[in-house]
Amino acid sequence: MKNKTLENRAARFKRLFKKKELVTPYLAFVKISKKKMNLIKNHSMQYLSEILDQNTNKKEDVLLKYFGRKKNFLKNITPTGMILPKNNTSLEFNILLKSWYNAIKSLEIYDKLENCHTPAHLRVKWPTSQKKDLNRPRHAPEELHFDSWSGYSSHGLTFLLGVLGDTQKNRVRFFVPNDDYKEKWLLKDFKPTVSELKACYTPIDDTPSYGEIAIVDTCTLHQTFRENNSEIRFSIDNIFRSKIKLQTKEYIERYRRQELTSVELLSNLGSKCIYFFNHYPHQIKNTNGGSLDPTQFNFVKN
Ligand SMILES: [Fe+2]
Repeated sequence: MKNKTLENRAARFKRLFKKKELVTPYLAFVKISKKKMNLIKNHSMQYLSEILDQNTNKKEDVLLKYFGRKKNFLKNITPTGMILPKNNTSLEFNILLKSWYNAIKSLEIYDKLENCHTPAHLRVKWPTSQKKDLNRPRHAPEELHFDSWSGYSSHGLTFLLGVLGDTQKNRVRFFVPNDDYKEKWLLKDFKPTVSELKACYTPIDDTPSYGEIAIVDTCTLHQTFRENNSEIRFSIDNIFRSKIKLQTKEYIERYRRQELTSVELLSNLGSKCIYFFNHYPHQIKNTNGGSLDPTQFNFVKN
């Protein structure tokens, strides 16, 4: 017998994406223009340069090497690699987000997007994972996981875009479910065992080309995955909700619901709204054991 909830998720993906964009029924790779990709890349480099207090004209490989050397001195990076904007980089991060939402606006899917968990993140994945970073209150990105286990929407679409560095070998590995999939697994209280997950899921080794956004249905199990000799990588992640609804009940944790922001409003970042990141680099926000986003900010609407 077919799995009805998976059929419903697959039907939604068919309405959201072109056939050629679908990698699995629950995973799509969507291309953005070269011009928009270049802007995101350049603005990421400006943001990183400002964090490092360096000239903005460094070449990508030189800047990333320098960033790697400063690893132990940077105070604004979480154990999962989230690079937190602070009061010294507020402007540069807004500019990066502006180029990100401009790229989203240029996609065909834009009209079908309602809102997203915010703020979006620029994340660093170091060449190797460190043991101390793998013990997280919820789960480490290196473990097999669903993003809903962090309280995000169980109907979400995770957008992932490799921006700088080794985006091919230091990547995300995706898994496709079979009909034994159970919708309740998406809730952290009903986490299946690793062997149950492995019996239901098959790895997909496709990786988006540079300039393609991987768009991941919540039911797509995934993990941070580093091939041998991989190098540092930077990427953007942002979880969206579509206007096309699923038939099952949607779960979002209470605090995560407060993060939801209209995509239309964000596409006017800089004119109708702006973020103020008001923590000093050394200040750390209390996240209630991973329930809250670690970014301290005020979001101001015009
Ligand atoms: Fe994830």
